[in-house]
Amino acid sequence: MSEFVDVDASADPLALVDYLDRATRGLAELQQMALNALGVRPGQRILDLGCGAGHFLETLTVLGAQPVGVDVSSVMTTQARQRCGPRTPVVRGTASGLPFKDAAFDGCHTERVLQHLSDLPAAVAELARLTIGGGRFASLETHWNSFRLTVGDPAFAGLVAESVPAGFRQPDLRSNLPPALEAAGFTSVRMRVDTMRSTLADLTAVNIPKALARIASTGAVDKRRLDSWWTDTQQQDAPDAVLLDRIVFSADRN
Ligand SMILES: C[S@@+](CC[C@H](N)C(=O)[O-])C[C@H]1O[C@@H](n2cnc3c(N)ncnc32)[C@H](O)[C@@H]1O
Repeated sequence: MSEFVDVDASADPLALVDYLDRATRGLAELQQMALNALGVRPGQRILDLGCGAGHFLETLTVLGAQPVGVDVSSVMTTQARQRCGPRTPVVRGTASGLPFKDAAFDGCHTERVLQHLSDLPAAVAELARLTIGGGRFASLETHWNSFRLTVGDPAFAGLVAESVPAGFRQPDLRSNLPPALEAAGFTSVRMRVDTMRSTLADLTAVNIPKALARIASTGAVDKRRLDSWWTDTQQQDAPDAVLLDRIVFSADRN
């Protein structure tokens, strides 16, 4: 599973913070779509669930909103407090049981969080409970089932593309998030899909060696052949070696 499921148990949690620092730079356009979908105005109370090191909280603060961050990780909540200062509350908590009263927020947001949750409907129900009638939901997430490799022997590339999504608890948010939102009481669910093109070297979030280990553990292909494929494939790295959909979801609260 991704190390973001339990950052505090990672061998090097600060490396995960560094990763978030780097990754956020390439997401500005999609983050702006999420901000537009939230319709952020000064004074609005916005919950950022899974706030990580506080990058989006900082943006919301600059826009004059009153954001609140929640994250399950002690390391991440400490980082977010350091980034955003004492006027932005950052609380440690988990997505399936959030420590706020009903309708406490004008909008709720997540970025690259829902993919890590074991119980998606429970988390979405919590976000619906916390959003006022007429409030908004926006989320920037990765649709891991769309993962494709365009380089390397296609037979192996296909096996890897099937295995990578298994490293995430919610690899199919494109199919599963809209019905979960509607079941929880959100309406007008919208999706904006953006296909990212990336080199293998840039896509550090995808641990292809872990995917290869999963394939080898099935006994379908010899580990040495997979390792040799990976060595060859990295030598063919290209700007569009990886294709992966990111989706901005948005919805209104009834
Ligand atoms: C990939 S990071 C994204 C952080 C931040 N949203 C960003 O975009 O920079 C995923 C975050 O979700 C948090 N997280 C994972 N499972 C969670 C849960 N069950 N409840 C709350 N936060 C969770 C992790 O601790 C981590 O900070």
